[in-house]
Amino acid sequence: MSMIIDRLHPFPAKIKERFLLTKPGSSKTTFHVVLDLKDSHITFKVGDAMGIYPHNDPLTTQRILQLLHASPEAPIIHPRTQETLSLKTFLSEKVNLARLTSGFMKLIPHNTKIKALLEDKTSLLEYCHTHDVLDFLTEFKDEKISLQDLCNQFSPLLPRFYSIASSPKHSPEEIHLTVSLTSYEHKGEVRKGVASNFLCYLAEKTTPIPSYIQATPHFTLPEDPKASIIMVGPGTGVAPFRAFLQERLALNAPGKNWLFFGERNSHLDFFYEDFFQSLVDQKKLTLTTAFSRDQEQKIYVQHKLLEQGKEIWQWLQEGAFFYICGDADPMAKDVEAALVSITERYGNFSEHEAREYLKHLRAEKRLLVDVY
Ligand SMILES: Cc1cc2nc3c(=O)[nH]c(=O)nc-3n(C[C@H](O)[C@H](O)[C@H](O)COP(=O)(O)OP(=O)(O)OC[C@H]3O[C@@H](n4cnc5c(N)ncnc54)[C@H](O)[C@@H]3O)c2cc1C
Ligand SMILES: NC(=O)c1ccc[n+]([C@@H]2O[C@H](COP(=O)([O-])OP(=O)(O)OC[C@H]3O[C@@H](n4cnc5c(N)ncnc54)[C@H](OP(=O)(O)O)[C@@H]3O)[C@@H](O)[C@H]2O)c1
Repeated sequence: MSMIIDRLHPFPAKIKERFLLTKPGSSKTTFHVVLDLKDSHITFKVGDAMGIYPHNDPLTTQRILQLLHASPEAPIIHPRTQETLSLKTFLSEKVNLARLTSGFMKLIPHNTKIKALLEDKTSLLEYCHTHDVLDFLTEFKDEKISLQDLCNQFSPLLPRFYSIASSPKHSPEEIHLTVSLTSYEHKGEVRKGVASNFLCYLAEKTTPIPSYIQATPHFTLPEDPKASIIMVGPGTGVAPFRAFLQERLALNAPGKNWLFFGERNSHLDFFYEDFFQSLVDQKKLTLTTAFSRDQEQKIYVQHKLLEQGKEIWQWLQEGAFFYICGDADPMAKDVEAALVSITERYGNFSEHEAREYLKHLRAEKRLLVDVY
């Protein structure tokens, strides 16, 4: 049976297993999440990401329902699809409750404060930026706003992406993810990121999680199993490299593998330590770690790359592929800067020539970056 699974037709995956990767006492919360793909007919390759549609925190939805004095079952017409949904489903599954836009303000143009904001674009943008829908509804709870008009203003709840941390050759009916819980402070309250909170805590084993594959065109293993690979993946950036290594193991690929992993503390945040260590013991992996908070001075993956510059350069000269995954800025930029330094030093290049060399690696699809 062929089934289309894509952004518009997601598969209702369920959580099969979920456990903490960070140990008690860690300053972070990162989970390993296994999604069950049985009967989905989903196919994927290592390096692909999973798109998931999260649900909002029921407590936030509940607070909004209370402020609106509305029945959770009140019928709402979805402004984009025109389907009729209950207010509760609409708020919990379809819309971004954090994003306040000027459209909400325009619902109550006669309110004195709103009138002033609507006349001053800078203050209006500042207000929208520093408040969310809950703040707006709390501040203007005495204003009469039609429920449907209000619902028409919400921004859609967009999918979030997670790098797939498993190989289909290792676990054909599962997708593994490495999910770091996002949290931030909003007006003195600790808030959690919508999708990471959903995957780490809110979704239960019975909760269908609308999911689809976001395929990568190039960020995957080299076709040649003999090619060497250097993988730089601090934090959750390690996820696709677990998948790469599982795949190389399943294929018995003879190519050399070198992983640079970084996290905060070695005894608390060393994700997948046993797996990586077993590969080191089997002489199938070179592992270099950078634990930033094990000592006074920060040590990051790029510092370790610089220390091993000569050998990195040798691997590149022999045709190695170089991968970077994880935080876009500053991690990936700093790692690329380290690569420029290594190229200058060991290739005897000027800075300009070193940058040209990296450009050439990129064009050859030997320098591959997947950052967020
Ligand atoms: C290709 C790709 C692969 C990825 N792979 C992974 C992965 O393997 N593992 C992983 O953990 N993540 C990964 N990510 C990141 C992931 O997609 C999400 O962006 C991340 O989990 C945060 O989403 P969230 O819904 O939890 O947070 P959101 O709710 O979207 O919040 C995210 C951030 O927005 C800000 N913010 C939002 N609302 C407010 C507010 N009201 N006030 C102040 N600040 C606010 C905060 O800075 C917060 O940290 C990947 C991203 C991409 C694009
Ligand atoms: N808001 C939150 O609560 C929160 C929490 C975690 C992650 N995030 C975001 O989520 C994404 C992924 O986070 P993650 O959990 O995978 O890990 P991460 O935050 O990227 O951290 C992984 C490791 O990278 C180190 N690091 C920090 N700056 C670096 C740099 N310039 N170069 C190299 N390494 C650097 C960190 O050290 P130090 O931390 O010791 O500097 C840590 O040891 C990032 O975009 C991050 O900004 C948000």
